Amino acid sequence: IRAALAGGPLSGRHVIVTSGPTHEPIDPVRYIANRSSGAQGTALAAALRDLGARVSFVTGPASVPPPTGVEVIRVETAREMLAAVEAALPADVALFAAAVADWRVANAAGQKMKKDGSGQAPALAFTENPDILATVAQMGQGRPPLVIGFAAETETVEAHAVAKRARKRCDWIVANDVSPESGVMGGPENAVTIIDAMGTEHWPRMPKAEVAERLAARIAKTLATLETP
Ligand code: CTP
Ligand code: CA
Repeated sequence: IRAALAGGPLSGRHVIVTSGPTHEPIDPVRYIANRSSGAQGTALAAALRDLGARVSFVTGPASVPPPTGVEVIRVETAREMLAAVEAALPADVALFAAAVADWRVANAAGQKMKKDGSGQAPALAFTENPDILATVAQMGQGRPPLVIGFAAETETVEAHAVAKRARKRCDWIVANDVSPESGVMGGPENAVTIIDAMGTEHWPRMPKAEVAERLAARIAKTLATLETP
């Protein structure tokens, strides 16, 4: 197996993958989260590993186990995820599959919040989290040559994804339609649209593992044309 991996098209390459949700504390025992399972990021990390890449897998508290044969870096919050990504650089590819919480609780309590008997609920204040993808995509020196973001949208998927790519200044956006009508949310299949500098590519609906394999192959092909190491 090692010999096969060493000869893969991504051998000698370092890929950073973010995956899963983040947890943003309210107090030491409570947090804000989202429904990301980490399935997509996990499948991608496995597919990149299978092509011979060294994978740094930066994961929030996901509900699926991380792949074997990758370096697993466990984090909870968006800010921890950003720090872990920065510590894992440099990389040939950075792929941001995590469902990062857009906001964290600004007035998180240092001790467990208690009911005070007045019947009044506490007021949470929110503040925006750092955008990890945009931070890495807009690095000057040390920017990975290939920076890939994801976009889960429920309407006007393509237009939103094109705008997101321009705003974040990443190389590719992998967009998918998570509206209830698409029927892919939480299921075994996905239908994605890839937006890059060349335009838009619609992929047919296929198993999530196959989406991951095809994306990994596309990454290998693109890296090979980007530079001659
Ligand atoms: N992302 C990130 N850090 C954040 C928010 C998002 O790295 N704080 C990354 C995600 O991992 C994904 C991409 O940015 O690769 C797009 O995430 P998305 O939530 O679709 O975009 P946002 O810019 O947060 O916009 P919105 O949620 O308002 O659509
Ligand atoms: Ca978001």
